[in-house]
Amino acid sequence: MGIVGQQPVSERLVDALKRLEYRGYDSAGVATIDGGALDRRRAEGKIVNLEARLREQPLAGAIGIGHTRWATHGAPTERNAHPHFTDGVAVVHNGIIENFAELKDELSEAGAEFESETDTEAVAQLLARFRRDGFGRREAMFATLRRLKGAYALAVLYEDDPFTIMAARNGPPLAIGHGEGEMFLGSDAIALAPFTNEITYLVDGDWAIIDKTGAQIFDIDGNVAARPREVFANVAFPVDKGNHRHFMEKEIYEQPEVISHALSHYINFVDHRVLPVSDAIDFAKVPSLAISACGTAYLAGLIGKYWFERYARLPVEIDVASEFRYREIPLSPQSAALFISQSGETADTLASLRYCKEHGLKIGAVVNTRESTIARESDAVFPILAGPEIGVASTKAFTCQLAVLAALAVAAGRARGTVSEQEEQALVRSLAEMPRLMGQVLNSIQPKIEFLSRELSKCRDVLYLGRGTSFPLAMEGALKLKEISYIHAEGYAAGELKHGPIALIDENMPVIVIAPHDRFFDKTVSNMQEVAARGGRIILITDGKGAAASKLDTMHTIVLPNVDEIIAPMIFSLPVQLLAYHTAVFMGTDVDQPRNLAKSVTVE
Ligand code: AGP
Repeated sequence: MGIVGQQPVSERLVDALKRLEYRGYDSAGVATIDGGALDRRRAEGKIVNLEARLREQPLAGAIGIGHTRWATHGAPTERNAHPHFTDGVAVVHNGIIENFAELKDELSEAGAEFESETDTEAVAQLLARFRRDGFGRREAMFATLRRLKGAYALAVLYEDDPFTIMAARNGPPLAIGHGEGEMFLGSDAIALAPFTNEITYLVDGDWAIIDKTGAQIFDIDGNVAARPREVFANVAFPVDKGNHRHFMEKEIYEQPEVISHALSHYINFVDHRVLPVSDAIDFAKVPSLAISACGTAYLAGLIGKYWFERYARLPVEIDVASEFRYREIPLSPQSAALFISQSGETADTLASLRYCKEHGLKIGAVVNTRESTIARESDAVFPILAGPEIGVASTKAFTCQLAVLAALAVAAGRARGTVSEQEEQALVRSLAEMPRLMGQVLNSIQPKIEFLSRELSKCRDVLYLGRGTSFPLAMEGALKLKEISYIHAEGYAAGELKHGPIALIDENMPVIVIAPHDRFFDKTVSNMQEVAARGGRIILITDGKGAAASKLDTMHTIVLPNVDEIIAPMIFSLPVQLLAYHTAVFMGTDVDQPRNLAKSVTVE
């Protein structure tokens, strides 16, 4: 964050940092210039600790910068918290300076003394050195940026200029907010919302000089760059959790509502047809589709692969973004590529997008944040309309991503003539039933889930199994459990159990089997018998037909409504999400901001 104006800034900086808390962090700090002197307050842990520090030792000044840190280099201590200071220069930084070790050696040899373990301090030291060598503020900034390799969103204060903030972006998002007689800088529109809705997004390579009257923006070569000043109306920030204990619980229960928003953008509920999706990507013509994403978004893509291949007969090449671009996949320039990202800022996903763009593919973005970098760099944007997702563990974004991918797969099938009009109407009718069915499930399974979660909270390891589209859902269930309850869990293809994991089965390892009564049910039941025969405890998540057919002495069975195959992944996500949520509540972990995690990972 940065503010330059005419009134004291430190409290407003802290308020703005609170709006960035949902991204996950482990320390925070602010710096201001007052009476010609730079000063800072920093604190480990939550922002309330920084507020306590500021109450003890207030910070005056009408210009300042602030930062919530998610540790990449160096432990989450006060010493490593931003802003970093050196010789009258203060810096806050999102991202990773990849050549910081080389810079640190060079600067140390020239006599610089580093006080922290961070890569960011190398930026402050470099700026200070250029200033000592006689460079002006602007020249020092420009010279420093040309030495940096890696990802950064930077805000810089010089003690000898209490009227200007310098900023730069290469990777992580950075936006300038236009006020009346004051100007703002922030990592996204949500953080700037209390001050202004007039935003200018910097693009990669841009840097800027901001004073209370406005901003001068330059491109990577130092030429003046004109960037659009846009109005982002009602960047609503859900500051409250309603009557829920956590944002994650609120977002799980929002799914019936937000799924209907997502669906209404893609299907016509009257004639049960898919609406035209995009003129930028012609699914009829593409020979294949690439999909790349991270974490939960990747697992949504994995389910989408089943649908594109089954309904549109479209071969799909998918991988996690951190692997995708290094495999040197032989991509055809005639193909299209879909990137799935709730934040639209995930560095690995963005890098894979740029890799595909370089290879001439048409780019589609399935995102929850329209003004995000991934959306802005795509040929076609497919919004999921889930509303801001604050809980670090993705829930409503996941099911909305699935709803959009299902609609796109049906649209692709229609375009390629592999889905008839009657099939389209049947599939769309199924999709249209989701909001009602989700509401029905959420209103019925909570008591059983809470009981089971108490059992799970005593476990050390949990195995999730599924077949077909329930296999990626099994992996998502495992990811949810481990990322918020810290219990080790693994998702596996049910058919793979006998090829190794069955060695793990004993009475201490609960096995959660996700099995709607679909084409695979009987085979999955035989996998469950293998587990039961070895004393494994089974939690079966199935539907009415499955419960009647299974005749297995499971530890517990969660019975959902009988649903069509195409919507089973979304409906069966609900018990999976709630199991993880309630287990974490029993474990007493920080459900909305689990340890070590960030909501948007803007570093590779
Ligand atoms: C999921 O619960 C996690 N929060 C994480 O795996 C997340 O899905 C991943 O980091 C991708 O984030 P994105 O959707 O914003 O790109």
